[in-house]
Amino acid sequence: MAHPVRIGIIGCGSVMQDGYLPIARDLQARGLAVLRVVCDSDPGRAALLQLPGQPAFTTDYRAVLADDAVELVLVLTPPASHASIAADALRHGKHVLLEKPMALSLGEAADLVTLAARSPGFLIVAPHIVLSPTYQQIGRFLRQGMIGTVVAARGLCGHSGPDWSGWYYQAGGGGPLFDLAVYNVTSLTGWLGPVRRVGAVTGITAPERRVGDRRVQVSAEDNAMLLLDFGDATFASVTSSFAIQQYRDATIELYGTHGTIRLQGDDWAPRGIDRWLTATGTWEHLDEPAPEWSYLDGLRHAVSCIRSGSPPMNAPEHAYHVLEVLLKAREAGRTGQMQPIESTVPRLTFE
Ligand SMILES: NC(=O)c1ccc[n+]([C@@H]2O[C@H](COP(=O)([O-])OP(=O)(O)OC[C@H]3O[C@@H](n4cnc5c(N)ncnc54)[C@H](O)[C@@H]3O)[C@@H](O)[C@H]2O)c1
Repeated sequence: MAHPVRIGIIGCGSVMQDGYLPIARDLQARGLAVLRVVCDSDPGRAALLQLPGQPAFTTDYRAVLADDAVELVLVLTPPASHASIAADALRHGKHVLLEKPMALSLGEAADLVTLAARSPGFLIVAPHIVLSPTYQQIGRFLRQGMIGTVVAARGLCGHSGPDWSGWYYQAGGGGPLFDLAVYNVTSLTGWLGPVRRVGAVTGITAPERRVGDRRVQVSAEDNAMLLLDFGDATFASVTSSFAIQQYRDATIELYGTHGTIRLQGDDWAPRGIDRWLTATGTWEHLDEPAPEWSYLDGLRHAVSCIRSGSPPMNAPEHAYHVLEVLLKAREAGRTGQMQPIESTVPRLTFE
């Protein structure tokens, strides 16, 4: 029988404490994984964590990688250190789950994809949307031709902005492109295939933000609208923003030659599917197939892949393509010019 997968976590901030840690605890309780060591450069994080089984705590991520027993490393630091830590982990033969964005430059991202291909460990990059049963169900509908050929789509992902860490507003790794548009662009490219050109308008609505009890100068765009050209006259728009207080509607809508499909809720927290078919002329609502699904279920998937020896469903090449779209969207916002996209996406299977 497969042994519990030994996990090391690097970065113990918001997404670790509120997201991955509860999943790791559940996996540990069910004998599927063991949380062996956690790391944060801030020694104060050690006191914050009530950890199952009392794993070791370190402030040096290299100690996690040097632990031969650790099989799976979660890289949950801010984006600036993603590529270097993930590369180091792959070089140490670890399986790696890396939070988004995978890197801040295409060069770093390409190196990671190459390294992952020739390393014993796999690389899974968030977001893990393509694993969602709702996402998969829509993928099957599209492959079956239920709404014909998709010719247009719209995506929306926004909120009023993170209130716990200032880096979310700083140039480099901050801004809603990397934090939010990354979800919609992953969803749309997984269903529709690669983007060929991207255009964008981007801007800063609030030059200063309050984060906890600090004031932060905003240097990354906090409001962005993307125009995606998939070729063959197929287009999509994506709204992504830290300047939206609330919305209440389907966040992704796909318009085909024979109908429309709407994903209710967000793609990272789906709440069912609506479809309208030309043949019937009526709306139909399909209940959410997996209300318990978490947008961090990539961790469950990673553990399952290690235990079964099967490859992950989400390939790093997809994350690379999404990163190219996002970086070039930022460039398009700066220059006002549509930007060509060179990479492509692997064809997904919808089970
Ligand atoms: N918070 C969320 O809801 C959320 C959701 C999805 C994805 N993410 C992604 O997860 C990542 C982390 O986000 P967050 O909100 O948890 O950030 P955060 O600022 O709350 O936490 C980051 C933690 O990493 C630590 N850290 C920084 N550099 C380090 C290093 N070199 N070694 C060890 N620790 C280091 C910091 O001390 C901090 O505790 C980001 O890539 C973000 O995009 C966050």
